[in-house]
Amino acid sequence: MRFSLALAASLAVSVVQSSPLGKRHVVSTPVVNDGIILNYALTLEYLERKFYMEGLANYTRDDFVKAGFEDPFYDNLKEIYFDEQTHVQFLSDALKAAGITPTNELQYSFGTTNPMQFVTLSSVLEGVGVSAYLGAARDIMNKDYLDAAGAILTVEARHTAYIRASLNESPFPNPFDTPLKYNQVFSLAADFITGGSSPVALPFKEFPELPLQCSQYYYEADRSSVTFSGAFKEAQKNFGIKKDTPIYAVFFSGLKKLPVQVRMTAGNAGDYKIDRIPAGVVGQAYVLLSKSATDFSDENTIAGVSILEVYKKGMAPATPKEKCH
Ligand SMILES: *[C@@H]1O[C@H](CO)[C@@H](O)[C@H](O)[C@H]1NC(C)=O
Repeated sequence: MRFSLALAASLAVSVVQSSPLGKRHVVSTPVVNDGIILNYALTLEYLERKFYMEGLANYTRDDFVKAGFEDPFYDNLKEIYFDEQTHVQFLSDALKAAGITPTNELQYSFGTTNPMQFVTLSSVLEGVGVSAYLGAARDIMNKDYLDAAGAILTVEARHTAYIRASLNESPFPNPFDTPLKYNQVFSLAADFITGGSSPVALPFKEFPELPLQCSQYYYEADRSSVTFSGAFKEAQKNFGIKKDTPIYAVFFSGLKKLPVQVRMTAGNAGDYKIDRIPAGVVGQAYVLLSKSATDFSDENTIAGVSILEVYKKGMAPATPKEKCH
């Protein structure tokens, strides 16, 4: 499971099926061009569109009000859906205008079954959307596409802020948003893809998953530990990593990439652990395992990315999370 959420501890993302796409091996940095980037964006917009379409179909205005999301929340969700739909249309049209086949919608399973879980996952997905556009921006060659990507990015950022505020999370926990690269985002998106096929082959690959052990407490920077369940065993299996091979958990938060060397836990679970999330990690942060303490390229990534919501030290809610699933 790549998603470990501070909110709605019962979130059933563990039921998300793993993608059919992934054979686990070394992933290399993809070579991209504008067409690939637009199709990458379209892949994410399809996913978001479907997510809101299902949410609006599954849950009524009343359901949201009862779950604590007062009007005009439902109308704003409809507006978000409209935005995602418009992004899908815009990107498809832009690709066609450039003579490139747009990718199509696939099949998805989000695993959410009530309004609170839905809104919690919405917050995560919007955050990933922001990180995806941000990470791709530097590779866009055509300035018109760059304008369009920027114009979409800022709207996704407002969705994130609104949804986070609705969950009583800081709407803007970090002075910088966090850029992510293609395979990192693709690994996250692929967790929701359960089938379907596209005429467009995109050069992206999934990294092996990095399951975070469920914690009863909210994560705080400079205080909380993180256990990566079974991560050593996986690393051994997938990459021949040995017990004494130095491996780093790298936290991506804003423009920071902060490595912490992992250690093995006692016992036979094959877990890796770090004792403190580095100071400076805040908001929706990402973590991966890297073979290098300095070069966090795809080639050195052995698992990830996973998502964690991190509070500043001393700022996490006082009550423990309800339960671990
Ligand atoms: C909509 O409901 C179905 C059936 O309960 C569920 O599987 C799906 O995850 C729900 N979708 C969302 C986005 O909550």
